[in-house]
Amino acid sequence: MSLQLHRQTFGRPEDAGRVLSRQEAFQLFHDWVLNPKLQLHMLQVAQLMRSWAAAKEQATETDQWRWEMAGLLHDADWDQWPELHCKKIIEHLESLHIDPEIIRAIASHGHAHFGVVPVTRVDKMLYAFDELSGLIHAYSLMRPGGYEGMDVKGVKKRLKEKSFAANVSRDDIKDACERAGIALEDLIAFIIPIQATVTL
Ligand SMILES: [Fe+2]
Repeated sequence: MSLQLHRQTFGRPEDAGRVLSRQEAFQLFHDWVLNPKLQLHMLQVAQLMRSWAAAKEQATETDQWRWEMAGLLHDADWDQWPELHCKKIIEHLESLHIDPEIIRAIASHGHAHFGVVPVTRVDKMLYAFDELSGLIHAYSLMRPGGYEGMDVKGVKKRLKEKSFAANVSRDDIKDACERAGIALEDLIAFIIPIQATVTL
């Protein structure tokens, strides 16, 4: 099964700035994603993207929503059409004339799989949050207190255990931190308190 997209440009330049309303985006999210575990993952990544844009990128409210929307929809086709991931959601957003930067970020969130290199800040942060967020959530599920008292050291220990959340690519996490120019410890410290607040 090849997930390579075989292209590097997405959407139309004239659609820059065009977004779905929050209601439209959540309608699509609920129509396409039925699995609660995947829903939670996407909501976590969406909140991380919004919070990062607000705290670290001086993004306006409008731009925060663009970051959040990329996170909210990045795995939208994974639940029902895994063989079309992430071609289907990209083509759907193109048909709706959505901002190419949002589509591109979704297309580059797993560049080893899709063949699209992360370039913009939105691309790089979506890629950086995706796998690490999943590992931190898996860690919260095995801790009696969940996120309560979780620290960077504990997450790093789990990262070193290859058998823990074995489907989470340690190579992708390392590569993503390098591309984003962010220390792994800083990224973990950012993720823990935000992710602790996200529920279905
Ligand atoms: Fe994801």
